[in-house]
Amino acid sequence: GAPVTADISALQEGERLVLEWRGQPIWIVKRSKAVLDALPTLDGHLRDPRSENPEQQPAYIAEASPELRSIKPDVSVLVGLCTHLGCSPEMKAEIRPEPFDPEWKGGYFCPCHKSRFDMAGRVFEGVPAPTNLVVPPHHYADDTTIVIG
Ligand code: FES
Repeated sequence: GAPVTADISALQEGERLVLEWRGQPIWIVKRSKAVLDALPTLDGHLRDPRSENPEQQPAYIAEASPELRSIKPDVSVLVGLCTHLGCSPEMKAEIRPEPFDPEWKGGYFCPCHKSRFDMAGRVFEGVPAPTNLVVPPHHYADDTTIVIG
């Protein structure tokens, strides 16, 4: 399919822009500093904290930022499909411990079989989803224009 362009000039912290590329939902999320600060504290609870599975993101994303999984630190681009059986996870961007897991610092929660991902789409250990959420190929055409594909 053809590349898809997104204007993120109006995207505010904590907001998510949803578009479609090749029949898949693409999420573009603007992360707060608090969220970015929390991400490195989660590594010990994650299956692939350093983005070592090459199928889950382009190599240039893993090289640029293996923990944030993004080109710009605050802007995360993900395919919005759970890597278990393809349900659509819910975004819970606010940082607060959940009763069922005190290590939860917000992220994406899949209601189908309770897989959890952080705000970089990195999968927690002990959940059904085997891999991190996919980061699609993308680049910036200018400071506020992202091209997916
Ligand atoms: Fe997401 Fe099963 S489809 S946990």
